[in-house]
Amino acid sequence: VAGVQPLNADAVAAPRVATPRLVLTIAHPGLGPDIARFFRDNWQGHLDRWSPPAGPRLFDVGYWTGRAEAAESEWRAGTAARFVLQRPDGGKVLGTCNYTNIVRGPFQACYLGYQAARAHQGQGFMTEALEALDAFVFREMRLHRIMANYMPENTRSARLLERLGFLKEGLARDYLFIDGVWRDHILAALTNPDFDDAPLREGAA
Ligand SMILES: CC(C)(COP(=O)(O)OP(=O)(O)OC[C@H]1O[C@@H](n2cnc3c(N)ncnc32)[C@H](O)[C@@H]1OP(=O)(O)O)[C@@H](O)C(=O)NCCC(=O)NCCS
Repeated sequence: VAGVQPLNADAVAAPRVATPRLVLTIAHPGLGPDIARFFRDNWQGHLDRWSPPAGPRLFDVGYWTGRAEAAESEWRAGTAARFVLQRPDGGKVLGTCNYTNIVRGPFQACYLGYQAARAHQGQGFMTEALEALDAFVFREMRLHRIMANYMPENTRSARLLERLGFLKEGLARDYLFIDGVWRDHILAALTNPDFDDAPLREGAA
């Protein structure tokens, strides 16, 4: 991680992770218009192929402003870290990386989902973002396992996870309802070799 700086003085400040070409921030209401535009530009014929059905407000600024507010609350509550990818000077959203369903106790795990702008695929932006964010999730959020699942025909997603070191763990039948049908998914995960399990041993986590 090139740089992790707090955005504000809250007790649980939202992180800002910098990589050589990107800045990754937790979604916040000011990004509502940019996120809505990301979905307007990228949904049809790109994200819709690999995503659960979207509601009628997918392209609505108000909807995304509300979702971003919820993302901030989730970050503060420690239940999810929903990142938005931009160039260092801001502007267009290039992608999203969502670490969700964070579970502590003896599991210390979360799910990962990601989406890149159609026009920005094939340039390594998602690899760059996820390398930094996986490290952040392991080092700063102190999780032990990141799980990511993909449809077998999603070869770009498969290559991305392989590059990042995720290991395939199995095939889940009829796993997610996507594009009108229950779709099989390959289950993959990355575990943290440096996880400090002392608090777990002491029964403190
Ligand atoms: C899945 C998805 C995020 C992958 O995006 P991507 O652009 O292939 O991933 P990256 O940004 O890491 O780019 C990697 C590619 O850029 C190439 N590349 C070019 N310049 C590069 C650079 N400077 N550094 C690294 N890679 C570079 C790599 O060779 C690689 O190409 P390859 O896969 O053909 O070998 C994207 O296709 C997407 O959003 N799909 C729709 C939504 C989706 O499927 N989400 C996941 C559901 S499981």
